[in-house]
Amino acid sequence: MTNADVREVLHIEALSFSTAWPPSAFVSELNDNKLAHYFVGRVGGAGGEVVSYGGIWVILEDAHITTIAVHPDWRGKRYGEQTLAYLLCEAIERGASWITLEARESNIVAHALYRKYGFSTVATRRAYYSDNGENAVVMWAGNLRGELYAKRLAVLANGLAEALERDEAR
Ligand SMILES: CC(C)(COP(=O)(O)OP(=O)(O)OC[C@H]1O[C@@H](n2cnc3c(N)ncnc32)[C@H](O)[C@@H]1OP(=O)(O)O)[C@@H](O)C(=O)NCCC(=O)NCCS
Repeated sequence: MTNADVREVLHIEALSFSTAWPPSAFVSELNDNKLAHYFVGRVGGAGGEVVSYGGIWVILEDAHITTIAVHPDWRGKRYGEQTLAYLLCEAIERGASWITLEARESNIVAHALYRKYGFSTVATRRAYYSDNGENAVVMWAGNLRGELYAKRLAVLANGLAEALERDEAR
């Protein structure tokens, strides 16, 4: 993600979250936060429409997924999974051994995606979200640099590639 992508990202952000980040949050993450790494997914190659984005902070061995979203018109087509897989690989390449995130308790779609990639729920933060007082679940995946997780990622990458091929053939 670059400053030039922020307008498209904000559009998806507004369609995806009831408490959307303001433009200044993305601009500051991109330009001022050395621990932050943000990415966009596009259709139609370089210069194509932005359909997904996600971000991580990596602090030595610890990583945090700060956001991930797919444009509503493009959900259910594996862009969310591709974005999460990309964030995980980036976190691992940058030295992370474990990764965490918060999700709304009601966000069962996101929970399913995270569980698929080995996250489990480790805590609940009561009334975390200011708009409706909803709880957050804290999810965590560990030993990212271990052999077992590498194997899990390899199996998931194969499954993802096959699913994308099937979707393309339809
Ligand atoms: C969560 C989100 C990123 C998922 O992206 P997506 O592109 O729609 O999801 P994908 O097509 O890549 O699906 C990947 C996995 O997500 C889960 N999933 C996706 N759609 C689902 C649905 N309707 N019901 C249950 N699980 C679902 C499944 O685990 C799926 O894997 P599977 O098909 O092998 O079971 C997307 O729904 C989104 O942007 N939501 C709004 C923003 C948001 O909630 N972000 C997360 C904040 S914590």
